[in-house]
Amino acid sequence: MSKSQREIYLAKLDREENLEEEEITLLLSCEDEEIVAAIFALADRKRREYVGDAVHLRGLIEFSNICRKNCLYCGLRRDNRNLKRYRMSVEEIYAVGVEIARLGVKTVVLQSGEDPWYDARTIAHLIRRLKKLDLAVTLSIGEREREEYALWREAGADRYLLKQETFDRELFRRLHPDDDYDRRLACQSILRELGYQVGSGNMVGLPGQSLESLARDIKNFQKWDFDMIGIGPFIPHPDTPLGSYRMEREKQFLLTLKTLAITRILTRTALLPATTALGTLVPGGREKALQCGGNVLMPNLTPSCYREHYTIYPGKICLTEEWGTCLPCMKGMVERLGRTVATDYGHRKKIGFPDGRPSGKDVTRQTFPDAGHSP
Ligand code: 5AD
Ligand code: SF4
Ligand code: FES
Repeated sequence: MSKSQREIYLAKLDREENLEEEEITLLLSCEDEEIVAAIFALADRKRREYVGDAVHLRGLIEFSNICRKNCLYCGLRRDNRNLKRYRMSVEEIYAVGVEIARLGVKTVVLQSGEDPWYDARTIAHLIRRLKKLDLAVTLSIGEREREEYALWREAGADRYLLKQETFDRELFRRLHPDDDYDRRLACQSILRELGYQVGSGNMVGLPGQSLESLARDIKNFQKWDFDMIGIGPFIPHPDTPLGSYRMEREKQFLLTLKTLAITRILTRTALLPATTALGTLVPGGREKALQCGGNVLMPNLTPSCYREHYTIYPGKICLTEEWGTCLPCMKGMVERLGRTVATDYGHRKKIGFPDGRPSGKDVTRQTFPDAGHSP
C-alpha cells in the first residue's frame, strides 16, 4: 500500500465520502507521520465543524464495584478476590449528585459493575430524585431486562452506556464468558426504542484484535448511529487472565487515537469522550484525544474512599486527589487547548433537523438503510 493510496482515502474522508472496512484498515495500519498527523488534523477540523469547541463534562459516580460477570479483561470481574468490594447506599449516591449539581456539572453518570443488588425500583427512585436537581442522568450498569430499562426511562434517565467492547464476534466470545454478542446488541435496540441516547464503544489493543476488527468496530459505530462512543486502550490488569499481555505503549496510543479520529470523521456528531484509560496509558493522553475528535470529559466524582477500589485496570489516574479536584483540573485542560466548557446538558445534536434527527444527506444513514438491524 503506497502513501499516495492513503492520501486518496484521506481526501475521500475530507470530501465526506464513506470508506469501506478495507480502506479503514489501511488507514489504521499507517505509521507515516505525515499521514497520521493529517488524519488527526482532519478529525479536529470535523469536530469543530460538527460539534464546535465546547467540551461536555460528565460527573462520574462509580457507585458499586461488585460484578456478577467475569469478563477476562476487567479488574472488577467476580473471580478477582484481590479487591475490596463496596456498595454505596442510595443516600450516599444522591448526596454526591447534589454536590455535582452544585458544582454546575449538568450530567451525572451512574456507573457500576453488574450488581443486581440495586433493584430496578430503587434505581428508578434515585433517578427521579436526581432529575429534580436539574441534571441529565446517564446510566452505565450493564445488561438488564427491557422492563427495567423502561422503568428507568420513565423515571427520567436520559442516556445509557453499554459498550460492545469489540464488534468481532469471535473476540467478543473469547473475552466474555457470561455474555452473548447478539443479546448485548439487542439491549442496544431496546434502549434506543425506549428513547435513550445510546452509547457504545470499544477497547483498542486487546489480545487477538486485528486492524480488521478495529475497522469493523468503526463501521458498526457508524451503522448503529450511536450517540456516544467510548474508545479507550485496553490496559492489562495483573489480577485477570489477560494480566501478562503486553503491547508497545506508543503504538497502542497512536492506534487508539487513529480509531478515535476516524470515528469522529465518519460519525460526525457523536459524543466522543477523551477517556481516563487513555490518560492512564500516556500522560497527556486525554488532551491529545480532545485534539483528535474528542469532545467529552468525565471527571471522576466518586467519593475518595471508594475511588481507589474501582480498579478496572491498574494505574488509573485521578485516584488519590481530593474529591472534586478533577473538575478545576479539567477546566484548565480545556482552556489551555483554547476550547470552552459546555454549559448545557450536552445532548447529542444530529445534523439537519432542529429536533436532532439526521437529515437524509447524512452519510451514516445513507450507506446503511438498515441501521440498527443485522450486525
Ligand atoms: N483496560 C481498559 N478498559 C477496561 N475496561 C474494562 N477493563 C478494562 C481494561 N483492562 C472498560 C471497558 C468496560 C468499562 C467498565 O471499562 O470498556 O466497558
Ligand atoms: Fe463486570 Fe463490566 Fe467488568 Fe465485565 S467489564 S467484569 S460486566 S464491570
Ligand atoms: Fe482528575 Fe486532573 S482530571 S486530577
